[in-house]
Amino acid sequence: MGGLIPESFIEELLGRIDIVEIIENRVELKRAGREFQACCPFHDEKTPSFTVSPQKQFYHCFGCGAHGSAIGFMMNFEGLEFLDAVEELARHAGLTVPREASKRPRPSEDLFDVLAAAERFYQAQLRDNPQATEYLKGRGLSGEIAKEFGIGFAPPGWHDLSDHLGKDKQPLLQRAGMLSQGSSGSYDKFRDRIMFPIHDRRGRVIAFGGRALADDGPKYLNSPETELFHKGRELYGLYMARKSQARLDRLIVVEGYMDVVALAQFGFRNCVATLGTATTGDHAELMFRAAQEVVFCFDGDRAGRQAAWRALESTLPRLREGRQARFLFLPDGEDPDSMVRSAGAEAFAARLGQAMPLSEFFFKHFTAQVDMDSLDGRARLVELARPNLMLIPEGVFRDMMVEQLEKLARHQLDMPAAATGVGGKPARPARQNQRGGQLQQKTPLRLALAHLVQNPALVNTVKDSQEMPDCTLPGMDIYRELVDFCRKHPNMTTAQLLELWHDHPAQPHLNILATWPLQGEPERQEQEFRDALVSLELQWTEARIAQLPLKPRDRSEEQNKLMTQLQQYRLELKDILRGEST
Ligand code: UTP
Ligand code: MN
Repeated sequence: MGGLIPESFIEELLGRIDIVEIIENRVELKRAGREFQACCPFHDEKTPSFTVSPQKQFYHCFGCGAHGSAIGFMMNFEGLEFLDAVEELARHAGLTVPREASKRPRPSEDLFDVLAAAERFYQAQLRDNPQATEYLKGRGLSGEIAKEFGIGFAPPGWHDLSDHLGKDKQPLLQRAGMLSQGSSGSYDKFRDRIMFPIHDRRGRVIAFGGRALADDGPKYLNSPETELFHKGRELYGLYMARKSQARLDRLIVVEGYMDVVALAQFGFRNCVATLGTATTGDHAELMFRAAQEVVFCFDGDRAGRQAAWRALESTLPRLREGRQARFLFLPDGEDPDSMVRSAGAEAFAARLGQAMPLSEFFFKHFTAQVDMDSLDGRARLVELARPNLMLIPEGVFRDMMVEQLEKLARHQLDMPAAATGVGGKPARPARQNQRGGQLQQKTPLRLALAHLVQNPALVNTVKDSQEMPDCTLPGMDIYRELVDFCRKHPNMTTAQLLELWHDHPAQPHLNILATWPLQGEPERQEQEFRDALVSLELQWTEARIAQLPLKPRDRSEEQNKLMTQLQQYRLELKDILRGEST
């Protein structure tokens, strides 16, 4: 993603904007010493644990662990993709986002313009077509809600839209997915259909869904994948839902366009639909960026349950602390649209309130497949459930799910897997990486890295000898790379550093170190950093001593000399630590 924009621009952008100003426009900040504080916008809290550092250009919540640069904040708070967050900030700073020439060009504004023109055309056509208006009325849609969602009508002719927009717009219409190819040329893809515009997260039309008025052909036709539209990454209604309220408590996920619109008319402004596809991981991520709680609302039939299970699978890896998913299964033959119209808003809200927690759906899904009364059946249950449990990020929720599985299986699980991350990541004690990694052991190397990340200017105090080019202690390659990087980017902030290292394998690690609490005034911190480096040298010296044969007579003359030097150096380093660190 980041590759489309030159890194130098990301650096410049983060240098130009002020994260305090960006956040202040959205969250009420209070000054607290050198930083700013607020109640965290990303989780519920009464006392503020969200801090913004003007110096690091970085935010961090000690409560839920959320942290990042202004770009990260925009992504999380506004629900934007990386590119859109960068663009939004650039606009704020009065900068133009350059594109790397070799890469795919950003879709031109023209493409958005032609889709906006198509939307206007369809809306005008709807006003002029009694049959279409009657159809919507017959389905109970109010004029206001139809207008709000930009609903229109594509007339039955083969070239109405093409003719309306004129010959020179044909290539754009083609690129936007609005035309179909026949043997005698192209024609309008959408004909005699109610048109639902699909908006991106900034409210621009990027595609359409069209419902047939007549009973022939497919009931719904969607725009094909284009440079603007990727079904697996868009949610119908998300822009409208976010517009109604910046931070939603709950997001309702339904299957159809009509469901979203009908629910909105009945006051449920927080609904989205996947576009005739299964819920993807990207979808799930988008949903949780918009709201902490997601309620999936599906038909009660087999297809509905299947779709729900697929949604659950996409959700599991994203169930970080505070996030919650629930499932509402409707009676056979009902969809949210028909349900809310027949039962009313209140009854529908009551059903939502009683939606099944993910944990319940999870275990029901498996216990229905096995004989829980037999030992073999319960063993099978463990076999089926375990791989799915391992998709859940480490934390309280996963621990509780494991406990529940143990209870159901009547068997204590030796879950070595419980400490293993997804994808064969090394085993870690449970929950070690929560709360911003404060529980991680403060080794000299980590401490040095933490200081450098949080205050890159400290690189000026690193002596040449302290770059330790031959040191083979684990993690030293990252240290050396970081020192080198900081030297090449003077005056860099934490935020810039982390964004520039966006694709670096060590970035997640540095991200955690960026949130380590480092107490004290700048001078005190500088001292702590110097001490960490001396400790690191000491560690390396001791490691080298340990590599030499223990007994003097087993050592060559050269090794003996080296031993004396190293021992001497070791004492000097200890002196430095003793003398300066108190
Ligand atoms: P449904 O068949 O449940 O339709 O499809 P619906 O939303 O209730 O529509 P109405 O009430 O009959 O007007 C659910 C969703 O699946 C996709 C559409 O996104 C639709 O909203 N779909 C359905 C298609 O993409 N193509 C189809 O032919 C049918
Ligand atoms: Mn329906």
